[in-house]
Amino acid sequence: MSEDKSPRHAAEPQAADVSEAQIAVHWPEEGYFSPPVQFIAQANLTDPGIFERFSLEHCPECFKEFADLLDWYKYWETTLDASNPPFWRWFVGGRLNACHNCVDRHLASHRNKTAIHFVPEPEDEAVQHLTYQELFVRVNELAALLRETFGLAVGDRVTLHMPMVPELPITMLACARLGVIHSQVFSGFSGKACADRIVDSGSRLLITMDAYHRAGDLLDHKEKADIAVAEAASAGHQIDKVLVWQRYPGKYSSPTALVDGRDVLVNDLLAKYRGRRVEPVQMPAEAPLFLMYTSGTTGRPKGCQHSTGGYLAYVTWTSRYIQDIHPEDVYWCMADIGWITGHSYIVYGPLSLAASSVVYEGVPTYPDPGRPWRIAEKLGVNIFHTSPTAIRALRRSGPDEPTKYQYHFKHMTTVGEPIEPEVWKWYHKVVGKGEAVIVDTWWQTENGGFLCSTVPAIHKMKPGSTGPGIPGIHPVIFDDDGHELPSGSGKAGNICIRNPWPGVLQTVWKDPDRYVKNYYARYCKDPKSKDWRDWPYLAGDGAMQAADGYFRILGRIDDVINVAGHRLGTKEIESAALLVPDVTEAAVVPVADEIKGKVPDLYVSLKPGLSPSPKIASKISASVVSRIGAIARPRRVVIVPDMPKTRSGKIMRRVLAAISNHQDPGDVSTLANPEIVEKIKGLAEGE
Ligand code: WTA
Repeated sequence: MSEDKSPRHAAEPQAADVSEAQIAVHWPEEGYFSPPVQFIAQANLTDPGIFERFSLEHCPECFKEFADLLDWYKYWETTLDASNPPFWRWFVGGRLNACHNCVDRHLASHRNKTAIHFVPEPEDEAVQHLTYQELFVRVNELAALLRETFGLAVGDRVTLHMPMVPELPITMLACARLGVIHSQVFSGFSGKACADRIVDSGSRLLITMDAYHRAGDLLDHKEKADIAVAEAASAGHQIDKVLVWQRYPGKYSSPTALVDGRDVLVNDLLAKYRGRRVEPVQMPAEAPLFLMYTSGTTGRPKGCQHSTGGYLAYVTWTSRYIQDIHPEDVYWCMADIGWITGHSYIVYGPLSLAASSVVYEGVPTYPDPGRPWRIAEKLGVNIFHTSPTAIRALRRSGPDEPTKYQYHFKHMTTVGEPIEPEVWKWYHKVVGKGEAVIVDTWWQTENGGFLCSTVPAIHKMKPGSTGPGIPGIHPVIFDDDGHELPSGSGKAGNICIRNPWPGVLQTVWKDPDRYVKNYYARYCKDPKSKDWRDWPYLAGDGAMQAADGYFRILGRIDDVINVAGHRLGTKEIESAALLVPDVTEAAVVPVADEIKGKVPDLYVSLKPGLSPSPKIASKISASVVSRIGAIARPRRVVIVPDMPKTRSGKIMRRVLAAISNHQDPGDVSTLANPEIVEKIKGLAEGE
């Protein structure tokens, strides 16, 4: 890599496929920052020969190195079975158990080492330090309970709707021990959103918690379970049992009553299973480990199915070499376990490496923006992982707070959205105290783990760019016609991955056609081909590649809004608005937001004869919150007399997005109703 100053060429992205939902990032190219020598001296990966070992020619066999980080009951025979593209099967013939790899195998050397530091949100409540031994005991007892009292067995699905408490990884690991497929739904999602995922996955059991702390309140969480069960029932799906953990064992903290015969208190039942041990089930490498639902191009969230062997190998390798986790590290990823980041980089990756992983219950700025730095100081956190949204919020509310605390990070991660170079520099200088290396990791729910990132001890960092593909990942940018855009072209296109990798989703649950269509159809060179080289994976992001090979991610090319790093489908929000009988049409557009990156603006038109009122607007907003959750709450609901439309009747979201972002909507003369644009502008500005 060249010198520390790259040309500030500031190529404007000319996105090949800028959808209406995409707003490109326009900051200029930055100079490089070098990783600190102290970091390099202790890093797990310093050999640049790695890129040769993981070159495209060496795919897929190179991924043996990934699998070799795991314990196998039976070693696998075929690295990749690609005979039925794009349904990849990794490490075929192998048998393993994810729970064994994350818990049991560490007992010999790390029995009394902390596996999970649980930090409750109330600061006067003691931090709980769960050792690997305790984790082992609790996971076993729960696995025994799930198997014996509830009859769970290999291949069953169980929906979890749990907050950030140690019982969540315990429950996930107990499922994994039994070969049961867990489907954790983000606790901030509504009961209705939970019900959709229950119905799709076909789980008969819901595991939840009575209450949890968030921003100073003890929230009633159990009420969402009642809604979820009722909603699932109205969709014709029955939940047999609701297992309720207690935030304070022995004390029920929810005002919502338990339903007789259906709801059971896990903490009560567990007493019967004290000391019980359950042998981990020896699962085939390709057995599904979990489902994670995410938003996509159509209204319905898709259940991304992740495998046991490929996924675990992938998150273990990336945790070790990109996160640079050593067993003696104290690692804190501030994401929520309800998202893929938490699955891969709070639970499975760090625990597979016998690290100590911090689980923090609450919001980062509670009770004040010094909180994360006090936690880091107290626990000796040395690897820190968070999102640009959290970094922006902490910077705004406490720009000097980190300097007041005695902690030292060797490594920091950012994930989930593009990070502005200015925010990156604050993260580096103030949070990292200039001592930490930073990786800007780009990936998705579908991918299992990181796709693009610098290798922290090998590459220099460049603010605002994610970096090249990690070893074994070979990204390429295609224009709309399938031509490759070379690095340094200054043009944006659709980022794809040329080769399959072990962490990639196996399919969309119960919807293989959607899987093929969404991720592989677009640039498939020959649908009959049995050669994986003909099946590039379409990520759904616009991107450009600089001359140095680093990628810059520009945002989604599909109908997805990335709010505070969380994927929300515009169609999901629009359908929620359309549930209000007064609404005829709804259109959602992303608006740039200083803290959250993007927030949704909702435009609606009403049934003839109805006049706009704040009451209708708040009814619509409430419908979105109850259908999806508070994260989807529109910044505002603008009631318009009509939508801007093409002559064929398509709503021009691009025009609405321009209005919301105070940009020029461009030429609107080809619209069927160009006069509406000024009217909408007036209404939006009047808000
Ligand atoms: C975006 C989160 C820029 C991207 C792990 C992607 C990013 C979507 C980055 C996936 C990054 C993620 N820089 N954009 N470092 N990381 N994204 O499924 O648009 O919740 O497609 O997975 O977030 O979000 P998801």
